[in-house]
Amino acid sequence: MGGFEVLWIGRVILLLQLVPGILGWGKEGHYTICKIAEGYLSEDASAAVKELLPDHAEGDLASVCSWADEIRFHFHWSGPLHYVDTPDFRCNYSYCRDCHDTAGHKNRCVTGAIYNYTMQLMSYSDSNSEMKYNLTEALMFLSHFIGDVHQPLHVGFLGDEGGNTITIRWYKRKTNLHHVWDTMIIESALKTFYSKDLSIMIQAIQKNITDGWSDEFLLWEGCALDQTVCPDPYASESINLACKFAYRNATPGSTLGDDYFLSRLPVVEKRLAQSGVRLAATLNRIFSSRQSISQE
Ligand code: ADE
Ligand code: ZN
Ligand code: ZN
Repeated sequence: MGGFEVLWIGRVILLLQLVPGILGWGKEGHYTICKIAEGYLSEDASAAVKELLPDHAEGDLASVCSWADEIRFHFHWSGPLHYVDTPDFRCNYSYCRDCHDTAGHKNRCVTGAIYNYTMQLMSYSDSNSEMKYNLTEALMFLSHFIGDVHQPLHVGFLGDEGGNTITIRWYKRKTNLHHVWDTMIIESALKTFYSKDLSIMIQAIQKNITDGWSDEFLLWEGCALDQTVCPDPYASESINLACKFAYRNATPGSTLGDDYFLSRLPVVEKRLAQSGVRLAATLNRIFSSRQSISQE
């Protein structure tokens, strides 16, 4: 490859990085969440997931957990399904008030999408469900959106588009607050603490789930009685964390460095852990054999 091509490709990569951080957690975040989930799947859920995954996934759920971001700009309708915005500075979330797209269409937000794709996947054992829904896509969307709803700024303020319009510096780099939470905190953690090796970070989080957060584990997994999925409490937690940690000390034009990074990294790691455990618990409820027996 000549120098000219290298320069050109470099510029394209730079340009892609400048596109506002409207994606969910970055690739690493979504991969981590789905890897953690894989470890907690029941036998029934694991079998159903393997059957539904596209061939190129080679049986690995984590490999398709960023698919929804890859197709986002191609399937325009899916854009609003990655987040839910709340009134500025209120620091609370309400499904009825907040779950709509910018045109006001109800249920077109991340929590609405989680309910919708869960409902679709519940038809897995119906013999004619394949005619109605694409359950492969439903599985890939659900696995991605359960991750997104845990990113605090995916339940952010309407006025700043979940931090997308808040320009800040991350160390020396110019970026926006949303992108810091999608990608930069995880990227910096990989460089600083995990020898740039994602599998080491995943192992550290897995160890924390069994050792450090074992007393909270059952609370994370639980869902209201008779409910298969509970995205609303996750969204409430997210906007709370957005107010307490993401927006705090991150005013437009500020530079975020060690203080911000070291105090927010534990929040990010816990959110990745919670999403993974909750994704598995949700898939386990959707694909439990009790469910398929009751429909026989
Ligand atoms: N676009 C508008 N609000 C957003 C949010 N909270 N997250 C991602 N993209 C958005
Ligand atoms: Zn995002
Ligand atoms: Zn997303």
